Amino acid sequence: MCGIIGLVSKDEFSVRDELLKCLARLEYRGYDSWGYAAYDGAVVKRVGGIGNNTKGITDMKTTVAISHTRWATHGEVTQSNAHPHSNSKKTIFAVHNGIIINNRQIKERLMKKGYKFVSETDSEIIPHYFDYMLSKGKSMKEAICSFISEIEGTFAIVLFRKGDPHLYAIKRDSPLVLGLYDGKGILASDIYAFSDKTNKAVFFDDDEFAVLGMDSYRFYNKSGKLVRKKVCGFEWSREEEKLKHYKHYMIKEIKEQPSASKRLIDSFSTIQKDRLIRFAKLIRMASRVVFVGAGTSYHASLIGVSLLNKLGIESHTIIASEFESFMLVDDKTLVIAISQSGETMDVVTVIKDVLKKGATVASIVNVPYSTIQRYSKLSIEICAGQEVCVASTKTFTNQLITLFAIAAYLGVKEFDLATIPDKIEKTIKTNEGKVRKLARELYRKKDIFVLGKGVSYPMAREIALKLKEIPYIHAEGMMAGELKHGTIALVEKGTPVISLIPNENVDMLSSTREVEARGARSIIISNTDGELHIPKSGDAEFAIYSGIIGHLLSYYIARLKNLPIDKPRNLAKSVTVR
Ligand code: F6R
Repeated sequence: MCGIIGLVSKDEFSVRDELLKCLARLEYRGYDSWGYAAYDGAVVKRVGGIGNNTKGITDMKTTVAISHTRWATHGEVTQSNAHPHSNSKKTIFAVHNGIIINNRQIKERLMKKGYKFVSETDSEIIPHYFDYMLSKGKSMKEAICSFISEIEGTFAIVLFRKGDPHLYAIKRDSPLVLGLYDGKGILASDIYAFSDKTNKAVFFDDDEFAVLGMDSYRFYNKSGKLVRKKVCGFEWSREEEKLKHYKHYMIKEIKEQPSASKRLIDSFSTIQKDRLIRFAKLIRMASRVVFVGAGTSYHASLIGVSLLNKLGIESHTIIASEFESFMLVDDKTLVIAISQSGETMDVVTVIKDVLKKGATVASIVNVPYSTIQRYSKLSIEICAGQEVCVASTKTFTNQLITLFAIAAYLGVKEFDLATIPDKIEKTIKTNEGKVRKLARELYRKKDIFVLGKGVSYPMAREIALKLKEIPYIHAEGMMAGELKHGTIALVEKGTPVISLIPNENVDMLSSTREVEARGARSIIISNTDGELHIPKSGDAEFAIYSGIIGHLLSYYIARLKNLPIDKPRNLAKSVTVR
């Protein structure tokens, strides 16, 4: 949520061609408004996504600049709420990702001192706070130390003072990383902002800050003591970034799945072989396993639970935001976090909490060096490459394959991983045309029900989530067995009900007959027979192929409705607030 960039260089750089291009790469983190500020105090702010919205911006060259793309938390989507925010004299400029909890108290205090606020955001206190501290004779470093000790909440902040050739960056909980290339230092919310330029990065830990000069950088802890940091080299695929001939990233990413899944499967016999073995050992050693995730990643975790339970390994999962109330852990528990971004705040919060309780944390992530990976004792990367569309597609498939690989290592016999990429390809080829036709029939519908049982239950939820998220259709993904305990009251003539029926599952077949008997428009996804037919597979593998059909259906319905598929309203890909 929200993407921030700070760039400092000894040679001048172009705001439009360099700063804003990096910012555009973070747009999937939020696209309500964007803005930048440069060394001489020039500020531009615009409502909407950065996309084609840079028209009329005269290119300027500078050596220090910051920028921000917003996902609104405090205050509506307006120009005055857009970042960067500044003090009244327009000498201090700041961008912020996170939430400042004690912002009301700080604001009231500053207002009493005569500071005037022009936005409804919590972030606006930052430049005023620094203005006040500097006016009291504090240095920037001292002011930052006071800020860290006084501010409650989460923040990744980059700020500068007009005429001061340094950038100041502060972090707690919200992600922040420094990229190093060509004599430049780039501060960003994640590595994707600069992964086309460099693979060298320095990751901030919580309550650290950095001062970046034209050709130097220094990190400090919250007391202002110098901290030595490691420069990490990361691997991140570059070849997949361009839209090529595709209309949207969503369809491009769905179609990338044969190659993305193959890359992952190959890694399990090469670069990730050792991690896989150690991951399986951690599971064997734990007295119980608890998965945690949010959204689509939670759906993957449900499949993880069913696979481990098959092996007699006690395992559970819970949505991250409800973990605290509904799950117990102790020092013998292994907590497995599943997260594409590796930054989801609800999951990060759980991890910090369970670590305090002595649990072991392992993770399955897409983004290397992400916060969740860095907190984990062991982490498997799903090697899906960058996913630009807000909705997870190829990353979900690779999460499932990772779980299959772990389960196979532990003794589940039902899959031959090597055949999955071809079956994915076949699923797309045989169903895309039929799905497009079905989309034409369904795109005016207000409600769709999706039924599953066992491992197809998480898929029912996953397909329903995508139907809500991309074509904005109200959809309910549910346990087929629960239908007759209430929801069936909503089924009437023509109500679309999608049934996920692996291997002629008898319970699924009878639930399907029950809705058909009430006049539902029944749509069957099956690996034996059905309107949408997927390759022969065990029940768990069925999850992958049925998911792909569900993702295609959401995509084609949304296309007919002419919706902003890659950036659905109100959403962001990396949810870094609670
Ligand atoms: C849905 C979707 C979201 C994410 C969720 C968790 O298509 O993408 O539901 O799955 O926000 O994100 P990660 O996996 O990054 O923790």
